[in-house]
Amino acid sequence: MIQETEYSLLRDGLLAWFAGNQRDLPWRRTYDPYHVWISEIMLQQTQMERGVEYFNRWMEKFPDVEALCSASEQEVLKAWEGLGYYSRARNLLKAAGKIVAEQGGRIPRDYDNLLSLPGIGPYTAAAVMSIAFNRPYPVVDANVERLFARLEDIDRPVKDRDVRQRMQKLAAVLLAGAAPRDMNQALMELGALVCTPKNPDCPHCPIQIHCLAFRAGTVADRPVPGSRQGKIDIDMACTIINVENKIFIQQRRYDDVWGGLWEFPGGRLKDGESPAAAAVRELHEETGFQAEKPEPFHTVTHFYTRYRVTLHSFVTGIRRGTNIEPKLTAALQYRWVTRQELDQYPFPAGHRRLVEKLQSAEAGPGERR
Ligand code: ADE
Repeated sequence: MIQETEYSLLRDGLLAWFAGNQRDLPWRRTYDPYHVWISEIMLQQTQMERGVEYFNRWMEKFPDVEALCSASEQEVLKAWEGLGYYSRARNLLKAAGKIVAEQGGRIPRDYDNLLSLPGIGPYTAAAVMSIAFNRPYPVVDANVERLFARLEDIDRPVKDRDVRQRMQKLAAVLLAGAAPRDMNQALMELGALVCTPKNPDCPHCPIQIHCLAFRAGTVADRPVPGSRQGKIDIDMACTIINVENKIFIQQRRYDDVWGGLWEFPGGRLKDGESPAAAAVRELHEETGFQAEKPEPFHTVTHFYTRYRVTLHSFVTGIRRGTNIEPKLTAALQYRWVTRQELDQYPFPAGHRRLVEKLQSAEAGPGERR
Protein backbone atom coordinates (compact mmCIF):
# COMPACT_ATOMS: atom_id res chain seq x y z
CA MET A 1 0.00 0.00 0.00
CA ILE A 2 1.12 3.52 -0.72
CA GLN A 3 1.47 5.71 2.38
CA GLU A 4 -1.04 8.50 2.87
CA THR A 5 1.69 11.12 2.77
CA GLU A 6 2.64 10.12 -0.76
CA TYR A 7 -0.74 10.89 -2.24
CA SER A 8 -0.26 14.61 -2.57
CA LEU A 9 3.07 14.13 -4.35
CA LEU A 10 1.40 11.59 -6.58
CA ARG A 11 -1.40 14.03 -7.42
CA ASP A 12 1.06 16.80 -8.18
CA GLY A 13 3.09 14.53 -10.43
CA LEU A 14 0.03 13.37 -12.35
CA LEU A 15 -1.45 16.82 -12.82
CA ALA A 16 1.80 18.43 -13.90
CA TRP A 17 2.40 15.65 -16.39
CA PHE A 18 -1.16 15.95 -17.76
CA ALA A 19 -0.84 19.73 -18.12
CA GLY A 20 2.25 19.27 -20.28
CA ASN A 21 1.47 16.07 -22.16
CA GLN A 22 -2.25 15.73 -22.80
CA ARG A 23 -3.38 15.10 -26.34
CA ASP A 24 -5.32 17.76 -28.16
CA LEU A 25 -8.65 15.93 -28.33
CA PRO A 26 -11.65 17.73 -29.83
CA TRP A 27 -13.91 17.41 -26.76
CA ARG A 28 -11.16 18.81 -24.54
CA ARG A 29 -11.42 22.25 -26.16
CA THR A 30 -14.68 23.28 -24.46
CA TYR A 31 -15.75 20.28 -22.37
CA ASP A 32 -19.26 20.76 -23.72
CA PRO A 33 -21.31 18.04 -21.96
CA TYR A 34 -22.74 16.82 -25.26
CA HIS A 35 -19.22 16.41 -26.65
CA VAL A 36 -18.04 14.59 -23.55
CA TRP A 37 -21.02 12.26 -23.56
CA ILE A 38 -20.63 11.34 -27.24
CA SER A 39 -16.86 10.85 -26.87
CA GLU A 40 -17.25 8.59 -23.87
CA ILE A 41 -19.77 6.35 -25.63
CA MET A 42 -17.66 6.24 -28.78
CA LEU A 43 -14.43 5.45 -26.97
CA GLN A 44 -15.88 2.34 -25.37
CA GLN A 45 -14.39 -0.51 -27.41
CA THR A 46 -12.82 1.95 -29.85
CA GLN A 47 -9.23 3.10 -30.35
CA MET A 48 -8.61 6.80 -29.76
CA GLU A 49 -7.57 7.65 -33.32
CA ARG A 50 -10.66 6.05 -34.76
CA GLY A 51 -12.81 7.58 -32.03
CA VAL A 52 -11.60 11.08 -32.93
CA GLU A 53 -12.31 10.51 -36.62
CA TYR A 54 -15.87 9.32 -35.92
CA PHE A 55 -16.38 12.07 -33.32
CA ASN A 56 -15.50 14.84 -35.77
CA ARG A 57 -17.77 13.44 -38.47
CA TRP A 58 -20.56 12.95 -35.92
CA MET A 59 -20.35 16.58 -34.79
CA GLU A 60 -20.64 17.79 -38.37
CA LYS A 61 -23.85 15.81 -38.76
CA PHE A 62 -25.29 16.15 -35.27
CA PRO A 63 -23.73 19.23 -33.65
CA ASP A 64 -25.97 19.27 -30.58
CA VAL A 65 -28.60 17.29 -28.71
CA GLU A 66 -31.44 18.81 -30.73
CA ALA A 67 -29.81 17.87 -34.03
CA LEU A 68 -29.28 14.32 -32.81
CA CYS A 69 -32.84 14.14 -31.55
CA SER A 70 -34.21 15.10 -34.98
CA ALA A 71 -32.09 12.54 -36.84
CA SER A 72 -33.53 9.27 -38.11
CA GLU A 73 -32.25 6.00 -36.73
CA GLN A 74 -30.86 5.13 -40.15
CA GLU A 75 -28.80 8.34 -40.22
CA VAL A 76 -27.47 7.61 -36.76
CA LEU A 77 -26.59 4.00 -37.61
CA LYS A 78 -24.92 5.18 -40.79
CA ALA A 79 -22.75 7.63 -38.80
CA TRP A 80 -21.88 4.76 -36.45
CA GLU A 81 -21.21 2.23 -39.20
CA GLY A 82 -17.95 0.39 -38.54
CA LEU A 83 -17.78 1.14 -34.80
CA GLY A 84 -19.75 -1.95 -33.85
CA TYR A 85 -21.96 -2.44 -30.78
CA TYR A 86 -24.77 -0.62 -32.53
CA SER A 87 -26.99 -0.48 -29.46
CA ARG A 88 -24.68 2.35 -28.37
CA ALA A 89 -25.86 4.42 -31.36
CA ARG A 90 -29.52 3.53 -30.90
CA ASN A 91 -29.28 4.43 -27.22
CA LEU A 92 -27.68 7.79 -28.02
CA LEU A 93 -30.69 8.61 -30.16
CA LYS A 94 -33.15 7.44 -27.50
CA ALA A 95 -31.32 9.39 -24.80
CA ALA A 96 -31.29 12.54 -26.96
CA GLY A 97 -35.07 12.18 -27.32
CA LYS A 98 -35.45 11.98 -23.55
CA ILE A 99 -33.10 14.90 -22.92
CA VAL A 100 -35.07 17.09 -25.32
CA ALA A 101 -38.49 15.94 -24.06
CA GLU A 102 -37.75 15.92 -20.35
CA GLN A 103 -34.75 18.19 -19.73
CA GLY A 104 -35.31 21.00 -22.22
CA GLY A 105 -32.38 19.75 -24.31
CA ARG A 106 -29.83 20.15 -21.48
CA ILE A 107 -27.70 17.18 -20.47
CA PRO A 108 -28.51 16.44 -16.83
CA ARG A 109 -25.93 17.64 -14.31
CA ASP A 110 -26.57 15.01 -11.70
CA TYR A 111 -25.40 11.44 -11.56
CA ASP A 112 -28.72 9.70 -10.96
CA ASN A 113 -30.42 11.58 -13.72
CA LEU A 114 -27.62 10.68 -16.14
CA LEU A 115 -27.82 7.07 -15.06
CA SER A 116 -31.52 6.98 -15.94
CA LEU A 117 -30.74 7.67 -19.61
CA PRO A 118 -30.51 4.80 -22.13
CA GLY A 119 -26.94 3.62 -22.66
CA ILE A 120 -25.51 5.46 -19.66
CA GLY A 121 -24.17 3.16 -16.95
CA PRO A 122 -22.11 3.96 -13.85
CA TYR A 123 -18.89 4.39 -15.82
CA THR A 124 -20.30 6.85 -18.36
CA ALA A 125 -22.29 8.77 -15.74
CA ALA A 126 -19.12 9.20 -13.66
CA ALA A 127 -17.09 10.20 -16.73
CA VAL A 128 -19.63 12.86 -17.76
CA MET A 129 -19.98 14.14 -14.18
CA SER A 130 -16.24 14.52 -13.77
CA ILE A 131 -15.03 15.47 -17.24
CA ALA A 132 -17.91 17.72 -18.29
CA PHE A 133 -19.01 19.06 -14.91
CA ASN A 134 -15.76 18.72 -12.96
CA ARG A 135 -17.39 16.84 -10.09
CA PRO A 136 -15.54 14.23 -8.00
CA TYR A 137 -16.71 10.90 -9.45
CA PRO A 138 -13.97 8.26 -9.88
CA VAL A 139 -13.55 6.91 -13.41
CA VAL A 140 -11.68 3.63 -13.66
CA ASP A 141 -11.37 2.44 -17.24
CA ALA A 142 -9.03 -0.29 -18.53
CA ASN A 143 -6.10 2.16 -18.77
CA VAL A 144 -6.57 3.23 -15.17
CA GLU A 145 -6.95 -0.36 -13.99
CA ARG A 146 -3.61 -1.27 -15.52
CA LEU A 147 -1.94 1.82 -14.07
CA PHE A 148 -3.32 1.10 -10.59
CA ALA A 149 -2.41 -2.59 -10.78
CA ARG A 150 1.19 -1.48 -11.31
CA LEU A 151 1.19 1.47 -8.95
CA GLU A 152 0.06 -0.78 -6.10
CA ASP A 153 1.63 -3.95 -7.46
CA ILE A 154 -1.66 -5.82 -7.21
CA ASP A 155 -1.09 -9.54 -7.68
CA ARG A 156 -4.69 -10.44 -8.51
CA PRO A 157 -6.77 -10.03 -11.71
CA VAL A 158 -8.26 -6.55 -11.99
CA LYS A 159 -11.73 -7.97 -12.59
CA ASP A 160 -11.92 -9.47 -9.09
CA ARG A 161 -14.62 -7.72 -7.10
CA ASP A 162 -12.48 -6.63 -4.19
CA VAL A 163 -9.71 -5.47 -6.52
CA ARG A 164 -12.25 -3.31 -8.34
CA GLN A 165 -13.45 -1.86 -5.07
CA ARG A 166 -9.91 -1.12 -4.02
CA MET A 167 -9.32 0.69 -7.30
CA GLN A 168 -12.47 2.76 -6.95
CA LYS A 169 -11.25 3.81 -3.51
CA LEU A 170 -7.80 4.70 -4.76
CA ALA A 171 -9.33 6.79 -7.57
CA ALA A 172 -11.53 8.58 -5.01
CA VAL A 173 -8.52 9.33 -2.79
CA LEU A 174 -6.63 10.80 -5.73
CA LEU A 175 -9.63 12.94 -6.68
CA ALA A 176 -9.78 14.55 -3.27
CA GLY A 177 -8.06 17.89 -3.48
CA ALA A 178 -7.62 17.89 -7.27
CA ALA A 179 -9.75 19.10 -10.18
CA PRO A 180 -11.71 15.91 -10.97
CA ARG A 181 -11.72 16.63 -14.69
CA ASP A 182 -7.93 16.83 -14.75
CA MET A 183 -7.21 14.03 -12.33
CA ASN A 184 -9.44 11.46 -14.03
CA GLN A 185 -8.11 12.33 -17.45
CA ALA A 186 -4.52 12.44 -16.21
CA LEU A 187 -4.89 8.83 -15.06
CA MET A 188 -6.53 7.69 -18.32
CA GLU A 189 -4.00 9.58 -20.39
CA LEU A 190 -0.99 8.27 -18.51
CA GLY A 191 -2.34 4.74 -18.89
CA ALA A 192 -2.89 5.28 -22.62
CA LEU A 193 0.43 6.99 -23.40
CA VAL A 194 3.03 5.82 -20.86
CA CYS A 195 1.76 2.96 -18.72
CA THR A 196 0.88 0.98 -21.84
CA PRO A 197 0.05 -2.75 -21.91
CA LYS A 198 3.28 -3.60 -23.72
CA ASN A 199 6.63 -1.82 -23.32
CA PRO A 200 5.51 0.78 -20.80
CA ASP A 201 7.71 3.85 -20.85
CA CYS A 202 8.75 3.70 -17.18
CA PRO A 203 11.79 5.97 -17.63
CA HIS A 204 9.44 8.82 -18.59
CA CYS A 205 6.73 8.07 -16.06
CA PRO A 206 6.03 11.03 -13.76
CA ILE A 207 5.00 8.73 -10.91
CA GLN A 208 7.69 6.09 -11.30
CA ILE A 209 9.09 6.72 -7.81
CA HIS A 210 5.69 5.84 -6.31
CA CYS A 211 5.20 2.72 -8.38
CA LEU A 212 5.42 -0.45 -6.32
CA ALA A 213 5.60 -2.73 -9.35
CA PHE A 214 8.52 -0.70 -10.70
CA ARG A 215 10.27 -1.07 -7.38
CA ALA A 216 9.59 -4.80 -7.29
CA GLY A 217 10.47 -5.36 -10.94
CA THR A 218 7.00 -6.77 -11.68
CA VAL A 219 5.70 -4.16 -14.15
CA ALA A 220 5.62 -6.69 -17.00
CA ASP A 221 3.54 -9.07 -14.83
CA ARG A 222 0.91 -6.48 -13.92
CA PRO A 223 -1.97 -6.54 -14.29
CA VAL A 224 -2.30 -10.27 -13.63
CA PRO A 225 -4.40 -11.68 -16.49
CA GLY A 226 -7.84 -12.99 -15.63
CA SER A 227 -9.10 -16.30 -16.92
CA ARG A 228 -9.21 -15.73 -20.63
CA GLN A 229 -11.77 -17.35 -22.84
CA GLY A 230 -10.60 -18.13 -26.34
CA LYS A 231 -12.59 -16.75 -29.22
CA ILE A 232 -15.35 -18.92 -30.60
CA ASP A 233 -15.17 -19.59 -34.34
CA ILE A 234 -18.30 -19.00 -36.34
CA ASP A 235 -18.69 -19.66 -40.06
CA MET A 236 -21.33 -17.82 -42.00
CA ALA A 237 -22.32 -17.64 -45.64
CA CYS A 238 -24.29 -15.08 -47.60
CA THR A 239 -25.44 -14.43 -51.13
CA ILE A 240 -25.03 -11.29 -53.16
CA ILE A 241 -27.87 -11.55 -55.64
CA ASN A 242 -27.54 -9.53 -58.73
CA VAL A 243 -30.38 -9.06 -61.14
CA GLU A 244 -29.83 -6.59 -63.95
CA ASN A 245 -27.18 -4.74 -62.00
CA LYS A 246 -29.36 -4.35 -58.95
CA ILE A 247 -28.26 -6.01 -55.75
CA PHE A 248 -30.59 -7.38 -53.13
CA ILE A 249 -30.22 -6.21 -49.52
CA GLN A 250 -32.46 -6.66 -46.53
CA GLN A 251 -32.82 -4.88 -43.20
CA ARG A 252 -32.32 -6.84 -40.00
CA ARG A 253 -35.04 -7.04 -37.43
CA TYR A 254 -34.71 -5.05 -34.22
CA ASP A 255 -34.99 -8.04 -31.91
CA ASP A 256 -31.73 -9.45 -33.26
CA VAL A 257 -28.08 -8.40 -33.21
CA TRP A 258 -27.34 -5.58 -35.63
CA GLY A 259 -31.03 -4.64 -35.52
CA GLY A 260 -31.84 -1.99 -38.13
CA LEU A 261 -28.66 -2.59 -40.14
CA TRP A 262 -28.69 -3.95 -43.70
CA GLU A 263 -27.11 -7.11 -45.03
CA PHE A 264 -26.94 -9.67 -47.79
CA PRO A 265 -29.16 -12.62 -46.92
CA GLY A 266 -27.30 -15.41 -45.17
CA GLY A 267 -26.64 -17.18 -41.92
CA ARG A 268 -24.57 -19.73 -40.05
CA LEU A 269 -23.34 -22.96 -41.55
CA LYS A 270 -24.88 -26.12 -40.12
CA ASP A 271 -22.63 -28.94 -38.97
CA GLY A 272 -20.86 -30.46 -41.99
CA GLU A 273 -22.47 -28.04 -44.42
CA SER A 274 -20.35 -26.36 -47.09
CA PRO A 275 -20.38 -22.55 -47.31
CA ALA A 276 -21.97 -22.73 -50.78
CA ALA A 277 -24.76 -25.05 -49.61
CA ALA A 278 -25.41 -22.86 -46.59
CA ALA A 279 -25.57 -19.72 -48.72
CA VAL A 280 -28.12 -21.29 -51.09
CA ARG A 281 -30.18 -22.72 -48.21
CA GLU A 282 -30.19 -19.47 -46.23
CA LEU A 283 -31.16 -17.49 -49.29
CA HIS A 284 -34.13 -19.76 -49.90
CA GLU A 285 -35.18 -19.76 -46.25
CA GLU A 286 -34.94 -16.02 -45.85
CA THR A 287 -36.34 -14.84 -49.20
CA GLY A 288 -37.85 -17.76 -51.13
CA PHE A 289 -35.34 -17.11 -53.95
CA GLN A 290 -33.58 -20.03 -55.65
CA ALA A 291 -29.94 -19.25 -56.31
CA GLU A 292 -28.70 -19.88 -59.83
CA LYS A 293 -25.02 -20.55 -60.49
CA PRO A 294 -23.62 -19.15 -57.27
CA GLU A 295 -19.92 -18.34 -57.53
CA PRO A 296 -17.56 -17.79 -54.63
CA PHE A 297 -16.91 -14.08 -54.34
CA HIS A 298 -14.92 -13.16 -51.27
CA THR A 299 -14.33 -14.38 -47.72
CA VAL A 300 -13.77 -12.00 -44.82
CA THR A 301 -12.87 -12.66 -41.22
CA HIS A 302 -14.01 -10.31 -38.54
CA PHE A 303 -13.14 -10.29 -34.86
CA TYR A 304 -15.61 -9.49 -32.14
CA THR A 305 -15.06 -9.55 -28.39
CA ARG A 306 -15.92 -13.22 -28.11
CA TYR A 307 -16.17 -14.47 -31.67
CA ARG A 308 -14.12 -14.82 -34.80
CA VAL A 309 -16.59 -14.77 -37.67
CA THR A 310 -15.63 -15.99 -41.14
CA LEU A 311 -18.13 -14.80 -43.70
CA HIS A 312 -18.15 -16.57 -47.08
CA SER A 313 -19.96 -14.76 -49.85
CA PHE A 314 -21.29 -15.92 -53.19
CA VAL A 315 -22.46 -13.85 -56.10
CA THR A 316 -25.50 -15.42 -57.67
CA GLY A 317 -28.35 -14.91 -60.02
CA ILE A 318 -31.81 -16.20 -59.23
CA ARG A 319 -33.66 -18.80 -61.20
CA ARG A 320 -35.48 -17.36 -64.18
CA GLY A 321 -39.17 -17.14 -63.67
CA THR A 322 -38.65 -16.64 -59.97
CA ASN A 323 -40.83 -13.85 -58.72
CA ILE A 324 -38.65 -10.81 -58.05
CA GLU A 325 -40.68 -10.19 -54.89
CA PRO A 326 -39.05 -12.00 -52.00
CA LYS A 327 -40.94 -13.69 -49.21
CA LEU A 328 -39.05 -12.21 -46.28
CA THR A 329 -38.79 -14.43 -43.23
CA ALA A 330 -35.82 -12.91 -41.42
CA ALA A 331 -35.88 -9.24 -42.32
CA LEU A 332 -38.01 -6.14 -41.95
CA GLN A 333 -37.78 -4.89 -45.52
CA TYR A 334 -35.64 -5.17 -48.64
CA ARG A 335 -34.30 -3.07 -51.49
CA TRP A 336 -32.79 -3.69 -54.91
CA VAL A 337 -29.98 -1.18 -55.22
CA THR A 338 -27.03 -0.35 -57.45
CA ARG A 339 -23.49 -0.93 -56.22
CA GLN A 340 -23.11 2.81 -55.60
CA GLU A 341 -26.38 3.03 -53.67
CA LEU A 342 -25.08 0.45 -51.19
CA ASP A 343 -23.19 3.35 -49.58
CA GLN A 344 -26.41 4.88 -48.30
CA TYR A 345 -27.15 1.95 -46.00
CA PRO A 346 -25.47 0.96 -42.72
CA PHE A 347 -24.04 -2.59 -42.78
CA PRO A 348 -22.32 -4.66 -40.09
CA ALA A 349 -18.54 -4.64 -40.52
CA GLY A 350 -18.19 -7.96 -42.40
CA HIS A 351 -20.90 -7.07 -44.92
CA ARG A 352 -19.45 -3.56 -45.29
CA ARG A 353 -16.17 -5.13 -46.37
CA LEU A 354 -18.03 -7.11 -49.01
CA VAL A 355 -19.66 -3.88 -50.19
CA GLU A 356 -16.23 -2.30 -50.57
CA LYS A 357 -14.99 -5.33 -52.45
CA LEU A 358 -18.01 -5.18 -54.76
CA GLN A 359 -17.43 -1.52 -55.44
CA SER A 360 -13.75 -2.00 -56.16
CA ALA A 361 -14.33 -5.01 -58.42
CA GLU A 362 -14.30 -4.14 -62.07
CA ALA A 363 -17.65 -4.93 -63.66
CA GLY A 364 -18.02 -8.68 -63.07
CA PRO A 365 -19.84 -9.28 -59.82
CA GLY A 366 -22.15 -6.34 -60.40
CA GLU A 367 -23.13 -7.33 -63.93
CA ARG A 368 -24.65 -10.75 -64.12
CA ARG A 369 -27.70 -12.23 -65.67
N1 ADE B 1 -10.89 7.41 -22.66
C1 ADE B 1 -12.16 7.69 -22.42
N2 ADE B 1 -12.33 8.99 -22.14
C2 ADE B 1 -11.11 9.55 -22.22
C3 ADE B 1 -10.61 10.84 -22.02
N3 ADE B 1 -11.43 11.84 -21.70
N4 ADE B 1 -9.29 11.03 -22.15
C4 ADE B 1 -8.49 10.00 -22.47
N5 ADE B 1 -8.90 8.78 -22.68
C5 ADE B 1 -10.19 8.54 -22.55
